[in-house]
Amino acid sequence: MQHKSLIDALSKVVGDRGVVTEVDDLVPFSHDWRHMFHGRPLCAVLPRNTQEVSDVVRLCVAAGVAIVPFGGNTGLSGGATPDQSGQQVVLSLTRMSAIRDIDVMGETIEVEAGCILQTAQEAVDEKGLLLPITLAAEGSARIGGIVSTNAGGTNVLRYGMARSRVLGLEVVTADGQIINGLRRLRKDNAGYDWKQWFIGTEGTLGIVTAAVLQLTSKPRYRVTALLAVSSAANALKLLCAARGAIGETLTGFELMSGAALARVTRHLQLKVPLGQADWYVLLEASSSLPGLRDATEVFLGEVLENEIASDGVVAESEKQEADLWALRESITEAEGKEGRSVKHDVSVPISAIPEFLQVADEAVMRIFPEAQINAFGHIGDGNLHYNVIVPQSLDALALNQLIHDVVGTFGGSISAEHGIGQYRVDELTRCRAPAELAIARQIKVALDPQNLLNPGKVFSNIKP
Ligand code: MLT
Ligand code: ZN
Repeated sequence: MQHKSLIDALSKVVGDRGVVTEVDDLVPFSHDWRHMFHGRPLCAVLPRNTQEVSDVVRLCVAAGVAIVPFGGNTGLSGGATPDQSGQQVVLSLTRMSAIRDIDVMGETIEVEAGCILQTAQEAVDEKGLLLPITLAAEGSARIGGIVSTNAGGTNVLRYGMARSRVLGLEVVTADGQIINGLRRLRKDNAGYDWKQWFIGTEGTLGIVTAAVLQLTSKPRYRVTALLAVSSAANALKLLCAARGAIGETLTGFELMSGAALARVTRHLQLKVPLGQADWYVLLEASSSLPGLRDATEVFLGEVLENEIASDGVVAESEKQEADLWALRESITEAEGKEGRSVKHDVSVPISAIPEFLQVADEAVMRIFPEAQINAFGHIGDGNLHYNVIVPQSLDALALNQLIHDVVGTFGGSISAEHGIGQYRVDELTRCRAPAELAIARQIKVALDPQNLLNPGKVFSNIKP
């Protein structure tokens, strides 16, 4: 089928307004959020329901045309950006944004892929429930992308990654079949748990069109505190002390370097309510049992007395809580204002974090002395964003390899939560064992034999 007749056939399925072909109108579908990756789509298609997604996939596959699933475009790895060929169709799920059902007794929500995370959070909040996926991008990130990339965020230490919220999925496969697995069961051990093949595989095996997510009751009390510590080792001592005192209530434990917060204050006019320190920890705890604040304050008094932390402040109002979180959530924006940054979304065993930081810092400074390190992250779950601000001329791949090699010596991962997309394809191939890559390729070939679902993402060299 010629491209013109494919576009005509797609328009018949989704209506004229559901197909975007003008170059100017295609701009939002042509680059990622950070403008790191730029592509040239043949067109963008915006189906209104699952049947239309299936029809679109069948038409594209019959024409041998690749499909790039697209949601809120908040990813950091270029997973939703088409290539430069002008031959790939972007399939945007944004017109499928319905909340189909909220089951209060079962604590579940059934939601379409294009629903914005914050919209789903607000809908369940009205019913006294919590959808515990928390990301800086929650005002734009969409459920389909969150599931397809197995997003992480700031409360993984308590609630797990997006994967652990997914009870059921509706998926359109590469042959256009609709698999309706929208079960809302906590226990379902009947054979293969096939939905896992579509979570975190970045649209390379199928297109997530709807999901049933596990909710939880909304904690009645919350405490947020900012602590100053002199080293990452002391941040871990603080984590141990917090676990001992209020462990099951911890929902956030974020590490931020003093340099990272200095960039936030410099570029974004936010204020750190503590004196200068080498490191800061933002700690959040929540529970429905009264007494959380008292218990937290007693524990914070102890860590100050034992000199694990040198200073601390507990938020006294929702506004102060939001101000503390704004410091943490503005680090990426402030980093962007500083110049070019090369991101590393790594994880190592939690106990190895101080040593990892020391070894990585020394390695970077030895080879790239002009670099500025922007280290922060979700250390309560072992995930560090070890971003490096560098001159335009610096070879990013050499830097990636250097840091990923250090990660490897600690048995870590080159992507804790951002996924592979197109950004880390070569590094995944370099860092994962051949047997792991081979089994992943076998699944890819079995589910997408023509390599038409998001080709070039996760894998580089799948040949149909
Ligand atoms: C965050 O946790 O703020 C983002 O995942 C990190 C980043 O921008 O590198
Ligand atoms: Zn993060």
